[in-house]
Amino acid sequence: MIILCKTQNELIHTRAEYQEVGFVPTMGNLHAGHISLLSQALNDYDVVYFSIFVNPKQFGPLEDFGKYPRTLENDLSLLKEELKKHPNKILVVFAPESVDEVYKGFDKTIKVQGITEILEGEIRPGHFDGVTTVVYRLFELINPQTAYFGLKDYQQWAVISAMVKQEKLNIKIVGMPIIRTPEGLALSSRNQYLTQEEKQDALFIINTLNEIRDILNGLKNNIPLAQKLVEEKLKDPQWDYLTMRDHLTLSEDISNSQIITILAVYRMGTTRLLDNIQVELK
Ligand code: PAJ
Repeated sequence: MIILCKTQNELIHTRAEYQEVGFVPTMGNLHAGHISLLSQALNDYDVVYFSIFVNPKQFGPLEDFGKYPRTLENDLSLLKEELKKHPNKILVVFAPESVDEVYKGFDKTIKVQGITEILEGEIRPGHFDGVTTVVYRLFELINPQTAYFGLKDYQQWAVISAMVKQEKLNIKIVGMPIIRTPEGLALSSRNQYLTQEEKQDALFIINTLNEIRDILNGLKNNIPLAQKLVEEKLKDPQWDYLTMRDHLTLSEDISNSQIITILAVYRMGTTRLLDNIQVELK
C-alpha cells in the first residue's frame, strides 16, 4: 500500500498509526540510487517513510534550486514499482505541497561545527546548515528508528551522523553503497544536466579514483606515491577537490587511518560531479 501525504497534518496523522518505521529522505527526481535506499528500508521495516522535498535552505543564491528537476508523477511510478517487490509493506510518501508544510512551527537552524566547514562546506558555505536543518526537521516530524543515506554524498552522511550524535537523537543512520551505471558513473539527479558526450567524459572521475586506489593498493607505504599522483591530477583546474581523507574524521592526516576515503568533485560546465571510493589499508 502507498499513502501520499502533501501536508504536515496528513503526515503527523499517518505517523500515529505505526510503531517502528524506516525513513529515506530525498529531493526527488528518483533513480536507482534512491531506490536502493528504499529497497533496504523495505527489507528492514514493515512501514517506510520516504520524503521528496527540494529544500531551499541547502541551495546557495547562485545554485540550481529553481531548475532542480521536479518529477513527482514519475517518482511515484518508480516507488510503486519497487513496492511491488515487497508485498504487504506500507510506503508513506511525504511530498509537501509547499515549503511551509515542512517548516511551519519550526524556526531553528541546526548547525554542526568542524566537519561542515571543509570540502563541500568550504565551497558551498551554509549548505550543510540547510541539510542538517531539514533532516533534523524531517526526523522530528517522522520520528523514525532508522534513516538511510547514500555514501555517494559521503560528507553529507558523515555530517548527518555527527548531527544525530550532537542532538542526542535515538536514530540509527545507515550509509548505503554508491549505485553506478554499468560503466562506473555514480548515478545523480544532476547527471541529466550533462550531454551524452559529457557523461562519457565523466567516467574519467571514477577512473582517476581507481587509479589512486590501485597505487595505494591497501599499503600505508604507498601513501606518498598516491599523494604524488593526486598532485599531478590536480593540475587540471576542473577539480574542485581530489583528496585522500580519513574515512571517519575526513581529516587530511591519514598517517594513522585504517580506511581512507578518496573524495572528488569535478566540474563539467556548471555541473559539479561528486564521487568517492574507500581503500582499506593494511
Ligand atoms: P538527494 O540528492 O535526492 O539524495 C537522496 C539520497 O539518495 C541521499 O542520501 C544520497 O546520498 C542518495 N543517493 C543519491 N545518489 C546515489 C547513488 N548513486 N547511490 C546511492 N545513493 C545515492 O541528498 C539529498 O537529496 C538531500 O541533501 C537530503 C538528504 C534529502 C536533504 O535535503
